Amino acid sequence: MNHRLYFTVLCVIGTLLLACKKDTPTIEDDSYTLAIPIGFPTPSIPEDNQLTKSRIALGKKLFFDTSLSRDSSVSCASCHKPSLAFADDEAFSLGVENRLGVRNSVSLANVAYQENLLREGGVPTLEQQVLVPIQDHNEFDFNMVLLVERLSKDSVYVTLSQQAYDREMSAFVISRALAAFQRTLLSGNSPYDQYFFQNQSNALNESEIRGLNLFNSDALNCSKCHSDFNFTNEDFTNNGLYEIYADSGRIRLTGLEEDRGIFKVPSLRNVALTAPYMHDGSMNTLEEIIVHYQSGGKNHENKSPLIQGFTITDSEKEDLVNFLKSLTDQEFIQNPAFQQE
Ligand code: HEC
Ligand code: HEC
Repeated sequence: MNHRLYFTVLCVIGTLLLACKKDTPTIEDDSYTLAIPIGFPTPSIPEDNQLTKSRIALGKKLFFDTSLSRDSSVSCASCHKPSLAFADDEAFSLGVENRLGVRNSVSLANVAYQENLLREGGVPTLEQQVLVPIQDHNEFDFNMVLLVERLSKDSVYVTLSQQAYDREMSAFVISRALAAFQRTLLSGNSPYDQYFFQNQSNALNESEIRGLNLFNSDALNCSKCHSDFNFTNEDFTNNGLYEIYADSGRIRLTGLEEDRGIFKVPSLRNVALTAPYMHDGSMNTLEEIIVHYQSGGKNHENKSPLIQGFTITDSEKEDLVNFLKSLTDQEFIQNPAFQQE
């Protein structure tokens, strides 16, 4: 090939490439790569809701928008605050008209990995979970049809919806966009992660390391339930909180007596930020929780045999609390991508 021809061919190819690029700018610009923390597995993401920048942006806008509630007074973020690792600091959160909910809000950190949502595990996907607060009398007290109607009057939503899912605002779009945003809420850069997954031996001090060893010990059993990278085995169990439960837990879902007083094992990530604790917010401090496990808890027919009680000195308690505090991930709670705009 002579030089001139070669040059012409290159120009033609170049023009074609540019032309292609011009036709499909959104696809290229919209791609999003989830920043998975070191040592974490890849969460599964539904085929019909792959992450894109515009889907996440729409989900984020919805998450912080009070117009999702009937009287436009509360948003998802009212009960899932970024500064508190997407939990809140009430025993029971307040919904519209300050109505008191029936459970303690949970942190949404790493919710992408949760296979069974809510404390009795009755909801399988983040997409489906979105309906719960929207319809719940004590939360948004609204309904999807009216919500779609309301948001369809907002030109910003109309445009974002087309960009993100190539369709009009709908239940499909609202539920998927909120799920997409929540899947980005990954927390895995606490001092514990730096020590354990990133080989930074100075990230934990001696007391925190002693606490970690106690947490993993056969005497305390904590890591038998609060296990793996997300500090939960995803199981449902009874940790001896009460003899008689006002909130009967998983039996509400299954109707089985063996599920009375049974709740999901919560993740302990960012646990220093998510007080009060347990399904009913009945414990206020990490120290109180250790005293509870130390005593072996209340007798309940479904109590796990792993809750036996143990002896522990005051300085060991301090070590264990220090370790639990090392699960706080400052980068996560300060991440600009997760703050209200
Ligand atoms: C009034 C307070 C309140 C509002 C508003 C609220 N939530 Fe929640 N959220 C809770 C409580 C309380 C729980 C635990 C409920 C349970 O276990 O039964 C929860 C649980 C969840 C869970 C399950 C997490 C898990 O690990 O099982 C997800 C996901 C969630 N909320 C997302 C949202 C989204 C998205 C919105 C907005 C559309 C929202 N929440 C609005 C209080 C609230
Ligand atoms: C048999 C399994 C099991 C064992 C062992 C266990 N836990 Fe738990 N833990 C649970 C369950 C279930 C809950 C939630 C109970 C509820 O919601 O009422 C919980 C709740 C907690 C909470 C509150 C989290 C929150 O956000 O509300 C902390 C903190 C905690 N456990 C720490 C520990 C420590 C420390 C140990 C070891 C001394 C331990 N757990 C041992 C099952 C267990």
